[in-house]
Amino acid sequence: MVLLALPESSRQNGSTMTQKPVAMPIARRAVLAGSAMLPFLPRLSLADTAPASDRFIWGVSTSAAQIEGAVTEDGRSESIWDVYARQPGRVADGATPAVACDHYHRWEEDVALMQRLGIGAYRFSIAWPRVLPEGIGAQNDKGWDFYARLVDALLKADIRPMPCLYHWDLPQVLQEKGGWFNRDSAAWLTEYAQAAVRRLGDRVNHWFVLNEAAVHAVFGHGSGEHAPGVTGGDAGVLKALHHQNLAQGSALRAMRTERAGLTLGTVLSLQPVVPDSDRDEDRQAAIRWDAVWNRVTLDGLMRGALPEILAPQMADLVEGDDLAIIKAPVDILGMNYYSRFTVRAQPGWLFGIGWGKARTDRFTAYGWPVEPEGIGEVLRELKELYGNPPVLITENGAAYADVPTGDVSKGGGRIDDQDRIAFLRDHVRVMQKAIADGCNVKGYCAWSLLDNFEWQMGYRMRFGLVYVNFAGNRERTPKTSFDWFREVARSGVPA
Ligand code: FCB
Repeated sequence: MVLLALPESSRQNGSTMTQKPVAMPIARRAVLAGSAMLPFLPRLSLADTAPASDRFIWGVSTSAAQIEGAVTEDGRSESIWDVYARQPGRVADGATPAVACDHYHRWEEDVALMQRLGIGAYRFSIAWPRVLPEGIGAQNDKGWDFYARLVDALLKADIRPMPCLYHWDLPQVLQEKGGWFNRDSAAWLTEYAQAAVRRLGDRVNHWFVLNEAAVHAVFGHGSGEHAPGVTGGDAGVLKALHHQNLAQGSALRAMRTERAGLTLGTVLSLQPVVPDSDRDEDRQAAIRWDAVWNRVTLDGLMRGALPEILAPQMADLVEGDDLAIIKAPVDILGMNYYSRFTVRAQPGWLFGIGWGKARTDRFTAYGWPVEPEGIGEVLRELKELYGNPPVLITENGAAYADVPTGDVSKGGGRIDDQDRIAFLRDHVRVMQKAIADGCNVKGYCAWSLLDNFEWQMGYRMRFGLVYVNFAGNRERTPKTSFDWFREVARSGVPA
């Protein structure tokens, strides 16, 4: 199927720009606010053994490698990000995830913050190297206990735990066996997923399997700007993508077999892709990038199909009934949205594409274009082309400079982040318009609860509703956006 790629999004900073294409034959409609009619209830109040509720979920997201720290404690082994960050020149300022937000020790304080925020759900990730230090085989009780305590505290606070199994922190021991280039990765992830359900499935109903397989494939295995730093080019990207797809399908099946009644999903980064110009080569570039960034994962999961345009390059990867395994309808589709991609033909980078200039003059501190309409474009596409699956916005947010006034070293001070409030407000309003138009969105999680380790940007990019004083003792100070989001979670209205 040939789709007309549209928008552009990007993570544009220095050399790194991520753009996620979504080919969309849908006209962009102007969308605005108007949320009053929506039945948004502020909180979920249910034991988490219940199936998906119709109540709208407001939540926040984090990931293990970005907040936990404590990387050598209680039997945790190294992840690929620990190793990568130690290599000179990889991460801004030589930063590492070794301490991060020290959430491993301060998790109770962080749960209290979430309670104060009044949210109904928390999407976090489980660190694979903490619970299965050898990747497979022996399990680490101390690691599982940490997540069991966290889950219990969340449930007590009436916050639904929604763990994601893999947010880019592969145990280094598995990387040494080839990581995502090894087809055995499907068996590794499946074993881990089964163990997770056995350990926590009595208390955790909502699960996500992978985070943004395309981002992990492109930057970790194609361009080398993320861990594990492999510069595998186009072939590396497609191999890592296919094996993650396969592992995900296999893990989802195993989790269902392990325990009935779970609400299972996975998280995709979906970005509309816009050609930079009307030139045929730019349009072709946009279609190619859309296939890599959006379609391999989405069409694989929802249709058991891969984009035709990539078929020749993927032919050697796809064996036997791979596509049947990859097609694994989910109960909830996690969708991360940050911006569109503007793409042009440019020999030399992955898939012969380069980044064009976004059609906006609003940019975040990361340099990503602010394009709220894009979230509606993706949601409408899911509705019109993919059967309107239940969607949870699992990430949306922005990095801004966040200069504090006052003394943040005692958890005081003030961060009046009106730019972040404007970003979140605009996106929530577009999402609510899409819901009013029939898009099946079940909830929205802001990225992120805390400022954290933003991958190759280290601690330079602050995405949190809560400021973390990395220069001091990681004291937390809620920003103005925290109070704003609390009101949204209470009223359902992004004032
Ligand atoms: C997403 C990642 C998340 C965070 C945000 C800013 O792609 O899933 O970990 O880095 O970008």
